[in-house]
Amino acid sequence: MAGAVQLGLLTLLLLGASALADRYTPDWESLDSRPLPTWYDEAKFGVFVHWGVYAVPAWSEWFWYFWETEKDVEYTTYMRQNYPPGFSYADFGPQFGAKFYNPKKWAEIFEASGARYVVLTSKHHEGYTLWPSNTSWNWNSMDVGPHRDLVGELGPALREKNIHFGLYHSLMEWFHPFYISDKENNFTTQNFVKAKALPELHDLVNRYKPDLIWSDGEWEAPDTYWNATEFLAWLYNDSPVKDKIVVNDRWGMGNPCNHGGYLTCHDRYRPDTLPKRKWEMCTTLDKYSWGYRRTMESRQVRTDIQILSDLVHVVALGGNYLLNVGPTKDGIISPIFEERLRFVGSWLKINGEGIYASRPWRVQMENITTTENNNITVWYTTKESAVYVFFKTWPEDGDLHLTSPVPTENTKVTMLGVPDFLVWSADPLYGFIITLPPLSPAIANMKFWTLKLQGVY
Ligand SMILES: *[C@@H]1O[C@H](CO)[C@@H](O)[C@H](O)[C@H]1NC(C)=O
Ligand SMILES: *[C@@H]1O[C@H](CO)[C@@H](O)[C@H](O)[C@H]1NC(C)=O
Ligand SMILES: *[C@@H]1O[C@H](CO)[C@@H](O)[C@H](O)[C@H]1NC(C)=O
Ligand SMILES: *[C@@H]1O[C@H](CO)[C@@H](O)[C@H](O)[C@H]1NC(C)=O
Repeated sequence: MAGAVQLGLLTLLLLGASALADRYTPDWESLDSRPLPTWYDEAKFGVFVHWGVYAVPAWSEWFWYFWETEKDVEYTTYMRQNYPPGFSYADFGPQFGAKFYNPKKWAEIFEASGARYVVLTSKHHEGYTLWPSNTSWNWNSMDVGPHRDLVGELGPALREKNIHFGLYHSLMEWFHPFYISDKENNFTTQNFVKAKALPELHDLVNRYKPDLIWSDGEWEAPDTYWNATEFLAWLYNDSPVKDKIVVNDRWGMGNPCNHGGYLTCHDRYRPDTLPKRKWEMCTTLDKYSWGYRRTMESRQVRTDIQILSDLVHVVALGGNYLLNVGPTKDGIISPIFEERLRFVGSWLKINGEGIYASRPWRVQMENITTTENNNITVWYTTKESAVYVFFKTWPEDGDLHLTSPVPTENTKVTMLGVPDFLVWSADPLYGFIITLPPLSPAIANMKFWTLKLQGVY
């Protein structure tokens, strides 16, 4: 009897200990040890959306700062030429009308792009919130401008299409008086964090249950100022999204590339060797701005082949690719962005087999030489027992000489989108030679090609 009771107590104690051990503590060692929910690595491709009051001047999402703080001549001239004297940044607010914002239409475009997640700026450094934030009085999308909950409308439209819903959130706000005074106090006071940053993060999580938080605006203050580790411990242990939530690495000065969920390091991060942890490259279709720019020219927009080059490179090296569009103040995704996104989607329909849920292979990329002595770069991924080979230069003689994969007698080679097996040979001098199919117009239109190798090592 006594023995049984003791055993019961011991079991209880052990259970208690393991339950405790499963909880994350508010320090980086514990938080960094959390395995990333698998949906994120499998997704590979996402769309970033920079939208806010900056879509009204439509010059750059940093408009307010360059105009007000930097007094940048380009910005002051633009204001003098286009707006009456005394016009303030807040005066742009009512003009942010979102008159044609149709979240279902956006979701349809994002679905057609093949994106598996979308990250919307819930609030950029200007502080304007795209949801009715309690702590952003008269500077949110319900009080000023659209009079709609832009965040709240997008989530369900995306989820209906099985697209994960992510929210970008800027910790700092350039001109918030509490932030300015905390900064003047060398971040020894936390008035802004207490009144604004933390309540808004909790509000976003509790209200919209996002799958991803893309934190930003961290760099002026340490994570201890932001209470970032305390927030993340709550997010991972007790929040309504604790099992699925994914976060990035921008949670305080010096954090990027070091701590957090996955690494973004810096904008447009695109390493050339395999990083140790899951990472993401974010970049933007308009090469000069994240927010919509009314003077954008077509030659300033990333081309199909540039997009695919980034996507394939990033995925081969284990990353995710987050490609940005900046909608207009009316809520329109401009046709040139839409066209690019639809192209990526049409490519992924055929080639996505080697992208989604793939893993880096033992060799991620290599330069191979053709019989004409030209260099061709190929990238590799793997999934199940197949190895996928990506290339964007078609060899003149139609033969691809691979050096890393070793064929066996069971080797089968196909090109995604082409029904027949391809002829291959193993040549003692030239190695593994694959004879590509004739370059038909349909194949040429694909712009970037994928071979599937089975039975190689
Ligand atoms: C918003 O503020 C009201 C009044 O202060 C409060 O009752 C409510 O709980 C707040 N809502 C959120 C989501 O914080
Ligand atoms: C902040 O730091 C600077 C430089 O170390 C110092 O001169 C200033 O007095 C500090 N301000 C406060 C409010 O502590
Ligand atoms: C930040 O965390 C510390 C330690 O838990 C706590 O004392 C402080 O009140 C928190 N600050 C805010 C603004 O939540
Ligand atoms: C091919 O690339 C390799 C490595 O980058 C380089 O050493 C070689 O000179 C290149 N060959 C040609 C023909 O461009």
